[in-house]
Amino acid sequence: MTSRILVLASGSGSLLQALLDSPVGNAVVAVGSDTPDAYALTRATETGIAAFTVSPADFDTRADWNAGLLAAIRAVEPDLIVSAGFMRIIGAEIVEAYRGRIINTHPALLPAFPGAHGVRDALAYGVKVTGCTVHFVDEGVDTGSIIAQTAVIIEPDDTEDSLHERIKIQERRLLVDVVTHMIGAQ
Ligand code: GRF
Repeated sequence: MTSRILVLASGSGSLLQALLDSPVGNAVVAVGSDTPDAYALTRATETGIAAFTVSPADFDTRADWNAGLLAAIRAVEPDLIVSAGFMRIIGAEIVEAYRGRIINTHPALLPAFPGAHGVRDALAYGVKVTGCTVHFVDEGVDTGSIIAQTAVIIEPDDTEDSLHERIKIQERRLLVDVVTHMIGAQ
């Protein structure tokens, strides 16, 4: 049975693109976002795969938004959900429904520097080595069990952007490797 991968993304989607350009690309059946103008959605439509938006602005409460996202996810019938730059916390209802089948990529060496500003926080702290982490999603923020990590040396002249771009080079490779092993094993 061919695996069905759903990618969730809020931004430019360069990690999504890495998956699409890889051998697992043809298993990506849909891209979902919380942001209507996310370029990740454009990448999906240009590739000819389904793209949907579940925007918090369309819901009265976060619980309603989570229910809306869960309904959109169920409609895709994914075997694996990949959060690749999805900047919302996935609610417990969704985590429970897909436990063990949702992974996230984070631009820091968890458990260090969790949250929405991992790159900036690592720079501000003054660590010499940071990196990226692919982990299972649980009910916490970047707290699920770790699958794989890659270290990235911080250069003295690094800015948040220069460091993040170097981390993303490793994230793209790591994410493709992890997803390939996860669906290849099925
Ligand atoms: C990645 O670094 C991811 O870890 C973080 O947001 C970035 C997404 O990059 N949460 P892109 O939108 O795939 O280029």
